[in-house]
Amino acid sequence: MSMMLEGVKDRPFIPTEYVVRLARTPWERAGYHALRREVFCTEQHVFSEDDQDAIDAVAIPIIAACCIAGMPDRIVGAVRIHEAKPGVWRGSRLAVHADHRKLGRIGAELIRMAVSTAHGLGATRFLAQVQEQNVLFFRRLHWKGLGVITLHGLPHHDMQADLARYPAHGQDQIWLLRPQPRPRQVA
Ligand SMILES: CC(C)(COP(=O)(O)OP(=O)(O)OC[C@H]1O[C@@H](n2cnc3c(N)ncnc32)[C@H](O)[C@@H]1OP(=O)(O)O)[C@@H](O)C(=O)NCCC(=O)NCCS
Repeated sequence: MSMMLEGVKDRPFIPTEYVVRLARTPWERAGYHALRREVFCTEQHVFSEDDQDAIDAVAIPIIAACCIAGMPDRIVGAVRIHEAKPGVWRGSRLAVHADHRKLGRIGAELIRMAVSTAHGLGATRFLAQVQEQNVLFFRRLHWKGLGVITLHGLPHHDMQADLARYPAHGQDQIWLLRPQPRPRQVA
């Protein structure tokens, strides 16, 4: 038995199931705001105590939750979308809990749900102000840069999603099974 557990017992627990969906319940919304505070206030110090602003009054919140036995257990991802001008939608406050990053898809699926949802609601453009260290991540997900700006004292890039890559869908949730780090191709 101890041989079977060798190398396994020290490994951090990685849930095998996640759901990405529009946040509807008070539990989901509380977890969404708690995660945003954890990432943007405690971790990144972009805001001091609370990152909420006027956009929250009109934005659609989207969450990722890790699941245990098929039930959402903890909110580990967040993003919000809103229509800034007729047809022009914006995404903001994208965050994945540090323990759940780079598992392969959670951030990318939050972006997919955000852009495809807005597309389904009539978006003709979808924009975001992206922190510099994440520009490559967005480029790989079919976003292009429109220019560099300073936001909250930090360099950001105005970026636009290629809507052709994000077909409109009416789904309000997507299940992710066993996201795992994928082996990288070595040239
Ligand atoms: C940026 C963030 C949302 C990415 O979430 P994530 O769940 O780790 O991303 P994913 O696992 O979906 O990544 C998909 C792919 O992009 C890669 N990737 C992730 N972050 C990246 C980055 N900053 N730059 C380049 N590639 C990145 C992943 O390794 C993965 O690659 P693969 O397809 O070869 O396996 C997350 O790191 C985060 O919350 N950061 C702190 C808050 C933040 O910076 N918010 C964004 C403000 S613009």
